[in-house]
Amino acid sequence: MQPPDVRHTPLSSGAKKSTLRLVAPADADALPLDDLAQAPAILRAADLLRAGKLVAFPTETVYGLGADATNADAVRGIFAAKERPYSDPLIVHIPTAEALGRVAREVPPAALLLAARFWPGPLTLILPRAEAIPPVVAAGGPTVGVRVPAHPVARALLRAADVPVAAPSANRFMHTSPTSAAHVLADLDGRVDAVLDGGPCGVGVESTVLDLTSDPPRVLRPGGISLEALRVVLPTVVGPREATASTPMETPAGTIVRAPGQMDRHYAPRTRLVVFDGSGPAVIAAMRAEAEGAAAHGLRVGALLPDEEATALDPFAAHIERLGSADDLTAIARHLYAALRAADAAHLDLVLAHTFGRAGLGLALEDRLRRAAGGTLQRIEAPGR
Ligand code: TXA
Ligand code: MG
Repeated sequence: MQPPDVRHTPLSSGAKKSTLRLVAPADADALPLDDLAQAPAILRAADLLRAGKLVAFPTETVYGLGADATNADAVRGIFAAKERPYSDPLIVHIPTAEALGRVAREVPPAALLLAARFWPGPLTLILPRAEAIPPVVAAGGPTVGVRVPAHPVARALLRAADVPVAAPSANRFMHTSPTSAAHVLADLDGRVDAVLDGGPCGVGVESTVLDLTSDPPRVLRPGGISLEALRVVLPTVVGPREATASTPMETPAGTIVRAPGQMDRHYAPRTRLVVFDGSGPAVIAAMRAEAEGAAAHGLRVGALLPDEEATALDPFAAHIERLGSADDLTAIARHLYAALRAADAAHLDLVLAHTFGRAGLGLALEDRLRRAAGGTLQRIEAPGR
């Protein structure tokens, strides 16, 4: 196997691009895919991709920064634009499961079962990599992450481009992922050739990454498809906490497995973020105490809170970002990254938040909040202990 090219090429000032803003049809949801794939903005974006250019585009999870996955030079451009190390592999996007043979050397029966149930949608499958996908896409490794996104603009773009598209989230490395075209421009204006604007993303957190090359299959990153839902189709799936870089997993053979690209600090705002583990009165009381103490030291405190708790830190918090109802984790996920960015822009010294359990989307929310906070959660002693 070729060793990975680990050099990272920083973007030189001479490489500054003028970023074209393309606007997808506003009624993309209502158009037949064939018609949408003929829209001028989509055709232009597809031409740019085929010509080896970098195009940011909407998916149902977050905006991706796309390049032709079969073009190693184009893919290197993604790493330069994001300032991302080559050790962090990219996900390849295809229009339908029928295109799996273009990117994966082998497609196990489990992949077809999962694809039938969850594609198009926020699930990435790690499979053996086909020759046509260059090593730079996959951190030099023998596998490749693949998904069929559900966003109609992404599907139309992939259909029109007719090449597999490598796309990480369209943010600077380690920064908060973008859920709107404005977020993409805030991070990457002048660094990419075009942004295709398809409105805000519906899911709001990235896809679930499931490794089908390991036995049993392991979730490497929780995301838009819950562990519970995966286990309905594939009961043997192992959860993520056993398989991240920060918590190496002992396999039955005794070797340690690490998931590439899973950093403790990630999705991070610039402002200090403290995330409390759990929800309920004890957690709110601890957050109030933290806010009161910080405010007493003259710090400007903000918080990300569900609607029901929007006034819970009064009068100690100067700025609240509402996440939606605590009963609706899909709404919380949809709003999380925009709220992190907005809190970051509000000139605060400290931002407080808490997790939402580990069931369903709660697991992905916990993962993103923990990483955004630098890798740790504040644990509250259970009452009576
Ligand atoms: O929802 C999403 O997945 C979005 C949209 C744009 O599709 N993409 C995304 O890409 O979140 P990115 O690059 O920000 O995160 C991809 C992560 C990598 O950091 C790595 O942890 C994992 O997926 N990954 C990708 N390829 C892999 C591979 N071959 N083996 C193990 N992990 C892989
Ligand atoms: Mg990312």
